[in-house]
Amino acid sequence: MLGHTMRLGNCHNFSDFRSLARRRLPGPIFDYIDGAADDETTLRQNTASFERCDLVPNVLRGVGTIDMSVTVMGQKLAMPVYCSPTALQRLFHHDGERAVAAAAAKFGTMFGVSSLGTVSLEELRKAYDTPQVYQFYFHKDRALNRAMLERAKDAGVNVMMLTVDSITGGNRERDLRTGFSVPFRLTIGGMLQFAIKPMWAVNYFTHERFRMPQLDEHVDMSGGAMSIGRYFTEMLDPAMNWDDVAEMVRVWNGQFCLKGVMSVEDAKRAVAIGCTGIILSNHGGRQLDGSRAAFDQLAEIVDAVGDKIDVMMDGGVSRGTHVLKALSLGAKAVGVGRYYLFPLAAAGQAGVEQALSLMRAEIERDMKLMGCSSVSQLSRANLRFR
Ligand code: LAC
Repeated sequence: MLGHTMRLGNCHNFSDFRSLARRRLPGPIFDYIDGAADDETTLRQNTASFERCDLVPNVLRGVGTIDMSVTVMGQKLAMPVYCSPTALQRLFHHDGERAVAAAAAKFGTMFGVSSLGTVSLEELRKAYDTPQVYQFYFHKDRALNRAMLERAKDAGVNVMMLTVDSITGGNRERDLRTGFSVPFRLTIGGMLQFAIKPMWAVNYFTHERFRMPQLDEHVDMSGGAMSIGRYFTEMLDPAMNWDDVAEMVRVWNGQFCLKGVMSVEDAKRAVAIGCTGIILSNHGGRQLDGSRAAFDQLAEIVDAVGDKIDVMMDGGVSRGTHVLKALSLGAKAVGVGRYYLFPLAAAGQAGVEQALSLMRAEIERDMKLMGCSSVSQLSRANLRFR
């Protein structure tokens, strides 16, 4: 983008939004979103995995109108991409989850609310009709788990999503370096980086106080800062097992998916305990570095359980063609995280809308170029791996 002023109108893809977010966010916050575990190998692999797969288009098939809608876990989505739940969104932009939910609703797609979200799941459920996922962590405190399930049920959440790849915190060295935690307790270097982004600070301090309304009744953060790693390590239950989850699935008695399943064996167990969906994910490379890219693992899982459960994936998705490749292998829908977080940080709701609009336009154009007028026409015949 050299030679252009960097603003929303000049953002045409993920990398443009990322650059704009980097300008606007204090360094420690940018690095929290952008960074991943250890050497960030998995983060890089997530995107690279799509590049090892080529599309083989068909032509002359009459693609005057394109239908990209999908149904996943009982939810009808106008586009096959949904906004995965992510933590702490009001740190990135003062509207946070409100902006993301509004944009998702406008595009007729599903959005996730995190346990570590900064707007209440009830408020968001009331504000929009679009399908809402609630992302859940399994805490040591079983009463807290029960209360959270009940609360989500009462709120009218459509899909319960249990994250299973965060049994302990990932080693995020960028965050260790800056001292990123919530609320902030920064290293001196980290603090300086806030000082040079005064606009972010003005917005942050002139809007509603930062809260985590899914958790604040249960977790006392007044005693000092809590790093994400500490939350994972101290609050979450590493003893969580399949029996615990089977019990949750029974109690929830509705659409229930596991996020972070990667092996065929686990996918089969998810089916056996009555889950209605699984999401292949390595948590954006933020947990186990060296973990395989979800896209590379997708065919194997779809072959094993694709006729019994809805298989989704996330990780590294930044282009319409990535989405088409995943759907061609058998994914029912694809999740994005950083793809909407950078636009959120850069420009709030307008940013997220622009990102979803670009994605929708890319999918539509790419489906036409592939000779497919509906998602059901995408198949493995359209792909070749190198
Ligand atoms: C993270 C958690 C909170 O990746 O999902 O930071």
